[in-house]
Amino acid sequence: MCGIIGYVGDQSALDVALQGLRRLEYRGYDSSGIAVVGAGALRTARRAGKLANLEKLLAESPETDPMPGTTGMGHTRWATHGGPTDVNAHPHTDCTGALAVIHNGIIENFALLRAELEAGGHELTSETDTEVVAHLLEAELARVPGPVGVAGPASSADASHPLTGALRRVCRRLEGAFTLVVVHRDYPEVVVGARRNSPLVVGLGEGESFLASDVSAFIAHTREAMEIGQDQVVEARRDGVAVTDFEGQPVDNRRYHVDWDASAAEKGGYPYFMLKEINEQPTALADTLRGRLSADGAIVLDEERLSAQDFRDVDKVFIVACGTAYHAGLIAKYAVEHWTRLPCEVEMASEFRYRDPVLDRSTLVIAISQSGETLDTLMAVKHAREQKARVLAICNTNGSTIPRESDAVLYTRCGPEVGVASTKTFLGQVAACLLVGLFLAQVRGVLYGDEVAAYVERLQRMPELVRRTLGRLEPIRELARELADAKAVLFLGRHVGYPVALEGALKLKELAYMHAEGFPAGELKHGPIALIEPGLPVLVVVPSPRGRANLHGKIVSNIQEVRARGARTIVIAEDGDLAVEPYADHLIRVPETTSLFAPLVTTLPLQVFACELALARGLDVDQPRNLAKSVTVE
Ligand code: M6R
Repeated sequence: MCGIIGYVGDQSALDVALQGLRRLEYRGYDSSGIAVVGAGALRTARRAGKLANLEKLLAESPETDPMPGTTGMGHTRWATHGGPTDVNAHPHTDCTGALAVIHNGIIENFALLRAELEAGGHELTSETDTEVVAHLLEAELARVPGPVGVAGPASSADASHPLTGALRRVCRRLEGAFTLVVVHRDYPEVVVGARRNSPLVVGLGEGESFLASDVSAFIAHTREAMEIGQDQVVEARRDGVAVTDFEGQPVDNRRYHVDWDASAAEKGGYPYFMLKEINEQPTALADTLRGRLSADGAIVLDEERLSAQDFRDVDKVFIVACGTAYHAGLIAKYAVEHWTRLPCEVEMASEFRYRDPVLDRSTLVIAISQSGETLDTLMAVKHAREQKARVLAICNTNGSTIPRESDAVLYTRCGPEVGVASTKTFLGQVAACLLVGLFLAQVRGVLYGDEVAAYVERLQRMPELVRRTLGRLEPIRELARELADAKAVLFLGRHVGYPVALEGALKLKELAYMHAEGFPAGELKHGPIALIEPGLPVLVVVPSPRGRANLHGKIVSNIQEVRARGARTIVIAEDGDLAVEPYADHLIRVPETTSLFAPLVTTLPLQVFACELALARGLDVDQPRNLAKSVTVE
């Protein structure tokens, strides 16, 4: 939920931190702060509100270089403990002002630790859980002082750098989720970090090292990265990094090359990331499908760490995810059950984790997460693996935690998504789910080869259909501007159109702060129809007239029902569907597709509708209020 960048090298740490924070601000924008070690001093600056407030504070400094030094760190906050004030902004320092700490996550036992510290004479000034870490480090360094390699308690590995050893010992006392980065006035040669259940990656540059919440923070400097695993401490120096577990045992982590560059994390001429990301969807989809659809019409998922036999052994599928990723999972359910005839349950990860789902080694759990860091989903993954289920992650972020904690991973290849509202990664997730569903059907022999080949051929055409759909959305933009003052919007759908309706409502809530609800159209008459009043916009995602069980006819009736009660109907229907025309106050056309692939096009007008309506209300679509891109607390 917070963004973190740490740096040691030859550049101005202030410049590197500010540049990194600009890239990380999507992770939280309640406050920001920087600490730099240089010229024998530790300097900090922090401000409530967006990063611009901190930049203004620094620009107003009378000094040419307000924070000299080449070792430092920056933080952008999504508030948990303590409101979004200057005092609660990170970094937090100890009583002496010699060291500073930044943190992402929640330290669950902070109240006990705080009481202990205060009883020991420490003065804590903020309401945050983070501040206890600064004082615990102060106490540890006082207890085990000394130069590198000289002093150290029981563990031999604690005879390393004093700051690293102190952080390891402090981490062993912490409960909850945390990424921590620490700098110290007396140790400008290192930046030290640690993680448990929150993200931390290392950037390995030439004569410089970076610690960050994600690679976008240092991508302008290096594309060489290293994962940091669960319960590990990393000591970063100019010439490289050393990683140990919390007990001090060295660990050897995976290094990888980031396959996108700094320009992918820029706006590229668009005023908002969200607009850019909506328009990147044809490419995101094509990249996610690339290499996975063979010329002879089969699904190829050879990066799997699960064998074909593992997939044949599955007798039940659970999909766990949050928010938009959960909606992708709901779409997957229709496909998985139809193609494989396996039972498939979809559940919000936060709920799945805390009931007793019946899982065993024949259960396949699919965990969907753009960031790979969502703590609710991560906890669901851990729970599933403890029950011996096999876990397949669908993820967009290389080096993130959920893939590492899963048995296998299928990466969506959508590139970095900076806008807080998910758009292109939703399409990538839906595509990945369709691939998994077809793959399961293929290896289990439920679909004939020619049936799989027919789907493969149609999937190959989808990026082009997405591109064409995006090119014809001007009418929904106009309508969104017209509805900027609406009080509420209802979204209806049937079959895979129902999760699309949920996704449309979520987009409108988070971007336009408008009351929006998604319902299965058939459920309407069981209660929600009471909400209909004259003029209420009701957006309906219509299934193909060529689809199953006359769902089309039924939804046309549902449209008539709401229209008869005065609703203003906005109908998303495929080309050539004439039956809806008499009942649509506004008709938005999308190209014809296979029923199960329809969400790849019907979602697009809903994304554009929410984005345009929010812009018409004068809102920031990249950084909606109260939200953060990556939710690393439960
Ligand atoms: O990174 P994840 O896919 O695990 O994130 C899950 C949700 O927090 C996320 O999809 C959220 O609902 C979207 N940003 C909404 O647009």
